Amino acid sequence: MRIGSVAVSHPITLAPMEEHTNYPFRLICKQLGASLVCGERVDACDVAKRDRRAIKLLHTSPTERPSVGQISGNDPKILAEAAKVVAEQGFSIVDLNFECPIRRLIGRGEGGALMADPPAIARLVEAVVRAVDIPVTLKIRSGPDAERETAVEIAQLAERAGAAAVDVHARSVAQSYVGGPDWSVVTRVKQAVQIPVMGSGGVREAVDAIRFLKETGADGVAIGRGCLGNPWIFQQARSLVTGGATVASPNLGERARVLLQLVASEFDFYGNHLALKRLPRVACYFAKALPDFASFREAVQKVKNEQEFKRLVREHFVG
Ligand SMILES: Cc1cc2nc3c(=O)[nH]c(=O)nc-3n(C[C@H](O)[C@H](O)[C@H](O)COP(=O)(O)O)c2cc1C
Repeated sequence: MRIGSVAVSHPITLAPMEEHTNYPFRLICKQLGASLVCGERVDACDVAKRDRRAIKLLHTSPTERPSVGQISGNDPKILAEAAKVVAEQGFSIVDLNFECPIRRLIGRGEGGALMADPPAIARLVEAVVRAVDIPVTLKIRSGPDAERETAVEIAQLAERAGAAAVDVHARSVAQSYVGGPDWSVVTRVKQAVQIPVMGSGGVREAVDAIRFLKETGADGVAIGRGCLGNPWIFQQARSLVTGGATVASPNLGERARVLLQLVASEFDFYGNHLALKRLPRVACYFAKALPDFASFREAVQKVKNEQEFKRLVREHFVG
């Protein structure tokens, strides 16, 4: 697949997830086979002001290319300025979020609120396409709610406005993350535009990703919650899609290796204080398969530094 000037080697990609798809986790997903990785949504107004926290969220390096930086907003000038910052940071693609269901954003008329206003999305896409040289993509949902499906109209308008690809989360904004996705909306979008169409929703195991691609005809599938604590899903799905051998689930030693890498890079990236706030939750996703998960969950809350964290992981995963 090609997204504008960017070549994407196969259709198995990482979906953006707030609080999860940070730089350390994205590198792991890449190493384990994701073709394209996307950072979490960042407010365009913070990015345009070059706010320190926003810039940290938009950290990238050549190692993770091709990579996607995602922003949200509803002011064409601010969104265009923020997109320039995303390009300066070194991302290969800038993605515009028109899907986020959180109340704070909806209240401001941003994110998923724009699914009710297709012409506004077209104007925003056009402004950003004019401002940057890297490809511009957009992430949408089926529509504002079950009664109104606007995805096809938005994809067509965005294509005309110069979007290089569209990514459809197969749920409505009103659904948030609850309830089954309806993959058929991805098929309808795919049939309506020429640009690459990616999609997400409900992929929990590698076979689901393959089923998604077959059933929808999409060019790519973005894996969301299915990769939390299980980044090996990328290896497994890539192998299935490229006709390779079945990749077995990782053993405890492999789980420990990857979790220890994540622990080390989170301490390095965030420092002690922030890493200790984030890592217990992340580590618990990896530890769910342990027979003594309950004792791991209790112990991980008491850890004070990187050495203790690593010792705990070794004790529980390697024995
Ligand atoms: C915790 C969480 C955070 C998310 N954050 C973002 C985000 O920042 N930007 C975005 O476009 N989508 C975000 N999503 C949506 C995912 O990219 C993806 O479309 C969705 O999770 C697919 O559904 P699934 O988890 O059932 O596979 C988020 C989803 C979750 C579960």
